[in-house]
Amino acid sequence: MPATPFQSLSSIPRWKSLRNSLRFAHNPITVLNENTQHYGHTYRFHLGGFLPGILTTDPGLIQHILQRQHRSWRKSPVQTERLGEFLGNGLLTSDGEYWLRQRRLIQPGFHRARLEALSGIMLKEVDDFLDNRFEPAIRKSTLVDLAPLMMELAFRVVAKSLFTTDLREEDVQLLSRNVTAIQAYIMRTLRQPYLMPWFRLSGQAHRHKELSRQSDLTIMRYIQARRQSGVRNDDLLQMLLDARYEDTGQGMTDQQLMEEAAILFVAGHETTANALSWTWYLLSQHPSVVSRLREEFDSVLGGRPPVFADLPRLQYSMQVIEESMRLYPPAWITDRLAVEDNEYEGLFLPKGSRVVAYIYGVHHRPDLWPDPEAFRPERFAREEKGAYHSFAYMPFGGGPRQCIGNNFALMEIQLILLRMLSRYDMELDPGHEIGLEPLVTLRPRFGMRMIVKNRKK
Ligand code: HEM
Repeated sequence: MPATPFQSLSSIPRWKSLRNSLRFAHNPITVLNENTQHYGHTYRFHLGGFLPGILTTDPGLIQHILQRQHRSWRKSPVQTERLGEFLGNGLLTSDGEYWLRQRRLIQPGFHRARLEALSGIMLKEVDDFLDNRFEPAIRKSTLVDLAPLMMELAFRVVAKSLFTTDLREEDVQLLSRNVTAIQAYIMRTLRQPYLMPWFRLSGQAHRHKELSRQSDLTIMRYIQARRQSGVRNDDLLQMLLDARYEDTGQGMTDQQLMEEAAILFVAGHETTANALSWTWYLLSQHPSVVSRLREEFDSVLGGRPPVFADLPRLQYSMQVIEESMRLYPPAWITDRLAVEDNEYEGLFLPKGSRVVAYIYGVHHRPDLWPDPEAFRPERFAREEKGAYHSFAYMPFGGGPRQCIGNNFALMEIQLILLRMLSRYDMELDPGHEIGLEPLVTLRPRFGMRMIVKNRKK
């Protein structure tokens, strides 16, 4: 049977995409949900009114591009060149042979044994943050916005996992500020590509390049200082320094180290912070889940601090995190470009096709997730796993480019939930409005205002 021509897919007329481009820039999720309802699981459209693409919420097609036929697909220039221009050429932004070589080199750094070493650094940073940043904040006012606090905490955890105690406070602040500003700028350029000439003329492009250079120099200083000191720490930087290419036996250059470290900062904090903010929101709406979590923590730990080996036994807390990332996937969308003609279930996809995997849309499909808006951690109970398509749930993407930090992130979120739930009771501020802000990651639009009280012992 001849393949269905690509042109026969239902298609949103370009004028309609253009007319919707402002609404899209303001709230892409609303527009994409409407489109999906109207045009089905896979359709042609123009992203932001300009870039032609195929949007899909079909787990089979997403598995095709990310995993089964991944060799025929590459990351789009938006993810490599545009992000790479500011973030450098690290795992997240590189492609092809270079990416594969780097992935093979770095992957072992995220294996179990390494994570065990990192769990100690993480736990210490979480406790320090709660004592020295969170406590003073809630002493000033019990009403706090958790979203920026979770951002700061997740940033510190990655920073300390990379550089341990070497890192000076003013550099944590500088890196955090710069990364946030650069990400916000990149997102503006992606949502409103027609403003690019203006961004260049007004000096914004140059300004953000400077911020990125400043961060790179800061990271480079730490790399060189570590090399010169000869001190060995059990952190991610040490892992990057020790890693050797299989073929040459050589390690990375300082420039490569800097680019990979910079990418870990970017990829590793905002996603985790958003997962945490959304989880706190869901927990504030489901006190019975909070009680069950505390029961689990008490029964597994009996009040002592957690160690790495405890984490797999905290099964219910993992289900809560998984369900939270189904409802609010921090990485809510990704895309790939066809590098050669290929075909998926009779649909011909010519070289150059852009397929946009609408992860948020997949996670909310009622035929895949009954009552999709309901928060039900039971969906992820061990006996339920396998009941859904492996690409019906993909907060960490899939295939060879799946998130390298997935287990790092899950461990971090579990530890933070555990430590904070043992110390605090939190309620959503009754006047607080919940909205989605899909930037590079899915943020809560109005932050996450909570009333936080110390728990009675
Ligand atoms: C809840 C937290 C996180 C979520 C939801 C998340 C999600 C993702 C997703 C969906 C991808 C794949 C993107 C694509 O295929 O287009 C990805 C890639 C990546 N993530 Fe994460 N991530 C999280 C935390 C982390 C952490 C903590 C780190 C590092 C410490 C990290 C480092 C990376 C890197 C380096 C890549 C690129 C991997 C490659 O292409 O080889 N992520 N992440």
